[in-house]
Amino acid sequence: MVSLKECAGHEKGDVLITSTLEAPTIASACPGSISDAPVDSHWRRALHSGESLVTVRDIKAASPNFKVKNPRNYDFARYVLPITETEIKEQKHLAKQSLTDENVVLSEAAFLSSSTTLASDDPVGGDRIASQANGTSKLVISTEGREFHSKILAEFRTIAAFKNNLGVPNGDLKLLDGDALEQLDSALSIDDQNTPDSWIPRSPELLRLTGKHPLNAEPNQLLLFEAGMITPTKLHFVRNHAAVPQLNWETHTFSVYADPPDILSNPRQFNMAGLTSGDFSILEIAVTMGCDGNRRKEVNMVKRTVGFNWSASGVSTAIWRGVPVRDVLLACGIRDTPPDERWYLNFEGADEPADGPYATSIPLRHAMDPANDVILAFGMNGRVLHPDHGYPVRVIIPGYVGGRQVKWLKKIWITKEPNMSYYHVWDNKVLPSFIDSKNHPLARTFFEDESTACWEQTLQSFICKPAHDERITLVDASTYEKTYTVEGIAFNGGGERIERVELSLDGGKTWKYCFRHFLKSPLRHGDKYWAWIFWSCDVKVREMVDAFEIIVRAHDKKKNFQPEHITWLDDAWIILDNKVYDVTSVLSWHPGGAKSIMIYAGKATVDATIEYKAIHDNYAHLRRDEGLIGGLSEDAIKVMQADSIRAAKDLAELKAQRKGLALQPDVFVPAKLIRRKSVTADSSLYTFELPRNADGTHGALGLPVGRHIQIALHFQDQAVSRSYTPVRPVLPSEEDGTFDLLVKTYMPSTDDVPSPGGTISNYLDCMEEGEEIDIRGPSGGITYKGRGSFQIDGEPFHFDKASPAACHGSGLTPHWQLIRAILSDPKDQTLITLINSNKTYDDIWMRSGLEQYAQEHPGRFKMWNILSIAPEDLGWKHSLGRLAKAIMDEHFYPSGTGVGTFLCGPVGLIEDVALPALQELGFEDGRSIFAF
Ligand code: MTE
Repeated sequence: MVSLKECAGHEKGDVLITSTLEAPTIASACPGSISDAPVDSHWRRALHSGESLVTVRDIKAASPNFKVKNPRNYDFARYVLPITETEIKEQKHLAKQSLTDENVVLSEAAFLSSSTTLASDDPVGGDRIASQANGTSKLVISTEGREFHSKILAEFRTIAAFKNNLGVPNGDLKLLDGDALEQLDSALSIDDQNTPDSWIPRSPELLRLTGKHPLNAEPNQLLLFEAGMITPTKLHFVRNHAAVPQLNWETHTFSVYADPPDILSNPRQFNMAGLTSGDFSILEIAVTMGCDGNRRKEVNMVKRTVGFNWSASGVSTAIWRGVPVRDVLLACGIRDTPPDERWYLNFEGADEPADGPYATSIPLRHAMDPANDVILAFGMNGRVLHPDHGYPVRVIIPGYVGGRQVKWLKKIWITKEPNMSYYHVWDNKVLPSFIDSKNHPLARTFFEDESTACWEQTLQSFICKPAHDERITLVDASTYEKTYTVEGIAFNGGGERIERVELSLDGGKTWKYCFRHFLKSPLRHGDKYWAWIFWSCDVKVREMVDAFEIIVRAHDKKKNFQPEHITWLDDAWIILDNKVYDVTSVLSWHPGGAKSIMIYAGKATVDATIEYKAIHDNYAHLRRDEGLIGGLSEDAIKVMQADSIRAAKDLAELKAQRKGLALQPDVFVPAKLIRRKSVTADSSLYTFELPRNADGTHGALGLPVGRHIQIALHFQDQAVSRSYTPVRPVLPSEEDGTFDLLVKTYMPSTDDVPSPGGTISNYLDCMEEGEEIDIRGPSGGITYKGRGSFQIDGEPFHFDKASPAACHGSGLTPHWQLIRAILSDPKDQTLITLINSNKTYDDIWMRSGLEQYAQEHPGRFKMWNILSIAPEDLGWKHSLGRLAKAIMDEHFYPSGTGVGTFLCGPVGLIEDVALPALQELGFEDGRSIFAF
C-alpha cells in the first residue's frame, strides 16, 4: 500500500489520498502534489482544544483532493478524509458548550441535570468539576440551585442518621373487630355472593383482575400512593390461587419436619397459642411485598404472557408481626447441614388450588440467616391477619417476591431438593423469550431449573402523580412556569437501598434528580431496607407540556439501573464473527431502529455479520463490544460454517445474475459526481457517473425496484457507508451510465445542542464535480418485481393495492421507485395511495412528478400530503400536522387480502407512530406492513 502519508515533511492531518495498489504513478506524483497542499491544521487544533465545532465540511474544505486536479496520477487512489467519523461525532466541544463563558449561572434545570451527571461517568460532569477546580470557569449557582443543594444535603444527612430498627412490636395485637374500619371494610361484596369466599369482607376499592373468584386484586395506583407508606390492609393487593381456607386461630396447626428426617431432631406440630404466647421472640417490621406479576400489563402489551394484567399497584407495604422462622427451626432441633450441600426450606398452604397444594421452597441458608428476617407472621398492621392475607399464619420473606410468601401455612419442611409442586415449578418464573408457552418442547427443562425462578424482588420505580387522566388546566402563559411535583414509588429486592431515582422528560436524554422519602425507621441490620421509598421531583408545567412521555428509573447500590426494556422481549443477542453480543441496550437508540437488529436476534446466521459490516462505524463497534458476552461453542461454529457456505452460494448466484452490471454486491466501485442541482432549501440532486465497461460503453446500475445502494466515504480508520435509494434510473430504459441521488443535507448546528450534522450528506454537499464516492449494492429487503408481485426478505408477496407512507423527504425515494415502476407499465394494475409527510410544500420531493402522476392516473395513483406548515397562497386542502392514525385510516386502502403498506422515514416516527397505528387498523407487521 502506498499513501501520501509516507512522503516526508508532512504532518499527520495532510494525508489525502491512499491507494490500494502499489502504483508507481502515485509515488512519483507524491512530492509535487503534496507540496501544493495548504498545511491547514486549524480544524485539528480546534478538535483537540474543543474551542469550536469541527465538521466534515471544515475538514473537506481544508483537504484538497488531488485526484480532481490530476486524475491520471491517481487513477486507483481514493480520497481519504484525515480524521475518523468517531472523532467528529464525539467532540468534547459538543458537551462543553455551556461552559465557555467565564461566569455561568446555572438555572435549576441545568443544575438538576448536571447534578445527575456529576457522579456518573458522563464527560459533561467530569468537565464541570475540572473546570471549577482549575478556576478556569466559575460556576455561580442560582438561588434555586442553592435550595436544591441544601435539599440534597438534608436528604443525605437523613439517610446517614438512620439507626437500626430493632423490630420491637408496638402494643398488643388487635382483632379484626369493629374499630378496625380505617383498615378494613366490614361489608361483604355481592361479587363474592356465589363463591366460597362469600364470608370475607373486602374493600370495593380493590380492582378485581381475574373476574370475581379467586380474588386477585389491586388498588387504584393513586389511591395506593395517597394512602401513604404503610398500606391500609383493605388496600393491600391480594393474590389468591383458590378459595380462602376457613381456618380458626384456636384450632389451626402447622407441622415442622424434615425429609430426610435426620437434620431435625425434634419435628413438631405448632398451634397459634404455641407460636405466640411467649416461647419465641417476636419481631415487627414494615415489609414491602410485590407480586411477581406486578406490571405484567405492560409486559403483556409488548407480548402476551401466560399471566394476567397486574398494573403497577400489585405491590404494598404492611407492618408484619411474627416469629423468626429460624427460631422455630432451632426449637425443632435443626442440625447443621453439611457445609458443601444446598438445602431447602419448603412451605405449604392450607388452600386447595386446582393444581395441587400451593407450596414453594427457598434456600434453607437464607431462612437461617438472622439478618434476613424471615418470619412466620400472624399480625398485619397491628391486627391479626386478614383472611385474604393468610389468617392465621403465613411466611414473610422480606425482599423476596410475593409468590414465595406462603399464606395459611400448614406445613414447613426441610429437603435436599427444591420443591416440586406445580406452583413452585410453573409459577413465578422468568423464561428466555423463545419459550413462549408451557407446551414448548424445552419448557419443562427451563421451568424445572431453579435458574428461572424469581427470588429477590427486582428493582422497580413508577410514577403515581401525574395520575391516569389527571388534567392540568393551562389558564395562561404563567401556568407554564408553575411547578408540578411528580411523585411516585420505588422498591428493590434483597434489602438493597434505592440509591437514586431519576426522572426524564426528554426521552432519556437528561435525567432529573428525585428526592427520596423513607419510612420513619427503615434500616435493619446495618444495611437492609425492607420497604419501598416514595420519591418526588419538581418540574415546570412547561416541561410536562413539551414532554412526549415522562420516564422514571431507579438504581441500586451496585449502580444497576432498571433495564430500559422488558426482559421478556428485548433480550437481543446477536452473533457477529462467531462472537455473541447482548445488544439489548442498543435497541432503544439504534439509528436503524430496533427492528433491523431484531430480525437477526437469536439467529445463527452470518447474514447479521455481513449486514453489520456493511454499514457500521467505530462508534457502533464500541457499543457492540460493550455487549460481548461470549464466543460460540464448537458445535455452534459448525452451524455458522454451514450458514456461511449458504451465504457464499447466495452471493455467487447474485453475482452471476448481476454479471456485467456496474453495481456489485461484494465490491465497492467508484462513481464520479458530474452534476449537482439544488432542489429544495436543504436538498440537492446529485448525478453520478458509473464506471465505464472495458469497451468504453457506459455502465448500467441494474438496481431492482425498491432496493438501495450503499455509499462509502473513506475516513482515516475505515470507510463509512450508508444506504440511499436513487431516484433514477428506475426503468431499464433510463439506464444511461449515470444515477441520481436526492439527498437532504443535515447541516451542522451550533444551537443549544451543537451537532456536526450528517456525515455523508455534508460530504456530498461539499463535493466538487469530478470527485468520487464508492458504491456497492443492491441492499435492502424489498424488491418490486412488477404487476403486484414483491419479494420481501426472500418471500414472495402479491398486493393489488399498495399504500406507501413517506416521511421527511428522503422517505419518499423507495416509494418513488415503486410508483414510477407501477405507473410506467400499462399492464400493471396495482393501485397506489401515497401519504407523503413534509415540513413545507416546497420540501416535497419529486413534487411535480408526483402531481403529474396524480393527474394522469387518477384511478391508479392517489397522493395525500401532510405538511407541518401550510403554504399561505394555495388554500391548502390536505392535512396539517404529523402522520397520524386517522389520516392513514382515511387515505390508505382498508386492510384486507392483497393490501400492503410500506413505510419509510425516521425510525421514531415509523416505530412509534405509523406501525402501532397500522396495527390498530388491522394490518400485520411482516404480512401487510413493511418498512424500507
Ligand atoms: N399462598 C397460598 N397458600 N396460596 C396462594 O395463592 N399466593 C402467593 C403468595 N402466597 C398464594 C400464597 C402469591 S403469588 C403472592 S403474590 C402473595 O401470596 C400475595 O400475598 P397477599 O395476597 O397477602 O398480597
